[in-house]
Amino acid sequence: MPNERSYEAALRRSNQIQADLPEHPEKYVMLTGDRPTGRLHFGHYFGTLVERVRLQELGVKTNIIIADYQVITDRDTTEHIADNVHNMVLDYLACGIDPEKTMIFNHSAVPALNQLMLPFLSLVSESELQRNPTVKAEQEASGHALTGLLLTYPVHQACDILFCKGNIVPVGRDQLPHIEQTRLIARRFNKRFGKVFPDVDGLLTSTPLLPGLDGRKMSKSYGNAIAISMTEGETAKLIRKSKTDGDRNITFDPENRPGVSALLTTAATVTGRAPVDIATEIGMGGAGQLKRYVTESVNEYFAPIRERRRELEKDGDYIHDVLAEGNRRANEVANATLDEVREAMGMVY
Ligand code: TRP
Repeated sequence: MPNERSYEAALRRSNQIQADLPEHPEKYVMLTGDRPTGRLHFGHYFGTLVERVRLQELGVKTNIIIADYQVITDRDTTEHIADNVHNMVLDYLACGIDPEKTMIFNHSAVPALNQLMLPFLSLVSESELQRNPTVKAEQEASGHALTGLLLTYPVHQACDILFCKGNIVPVGRDQLPHIEQTRLIARRFNKRFGKVFPDVDGLLTSTPLLPGLDGRKMSKSYGNAIAISMTEGETAKLIRKSKTDGDRNITFDPENRPGVSALLTTAATVTGRAPVDIATEIGMGGAGQLKRYVTESVNEYFAPIRERRRELEKDGDYIHDVLAEGNRRANEVANATLDEVREAMGMVY
């Protein structure tokens, strides 16, 4: 965790930017992304996709990286990667990302982005890399040896953000150390070689982290996440299987009743109601009635999104073209930035 003072400072800047965004969207370039390790789920949707679409519609320049090289930071296979990337584009478009407005692209398709890694690595010390709390947590969770790529991936993220001169990155609190790292790299580069890169800020999301259906952290590997791409039947089955408890009376008590409370939070998120009100309404109706309510409200909320996804799924060529066009544009942007970097460093021969 970053220290409280730096968190407060980041929050203050984030709030100022949020207030300025609707008035001056043209000042901002957003960059964010996802690792293509599986389907996007409910947590991604409410945690970040809604915010990306909002920024896109405000007229901010929006960029989304499908971070394929990041997949191998802590695993030794790229199995299913092309399928995951294809499905990720489908998820984005179904949720309202408009490829006319938002550039969608991959690490591996943009050589000049990756080349920024060399000068950037010269701007950080080994101990700075070792200290990053998120890297440590991810390494422990993976049970994998700390690879050089995992150790340096915050620098790689700085390349993702800075190649397109991104200045806002929607993040959760745990990602703030990465933003700090990017700010440092940009500032050090500018100081040593000349001003090329902007100041970067995290845009902290106000939505609290959504729990998985069982109350634990939402994760595909726990089987507690509703994927956007699931059918209504698959959604119903996942909710039916989720763990509740023996108390028939439904109450909202996240501490002592994680399963029941996570179901209430899920229904509250899609209906806009308060979890406590839903609990009171169901009362002695028990977990069965609660699960039926959650299933219906989730399926109703996602119906138009899933319908759009099914339509888009029929046209694989279109999805392929969206990514090809995003990659083409990203290369243009990256080549222009790399030229500026070469110039600043005197490497023009
Ligand atoms: N690390 C992010 C994730 O795991 C994906 C990502 C890659 C990213 N590069 C980024 C996010 C740059 C923000 C900025 O989902």
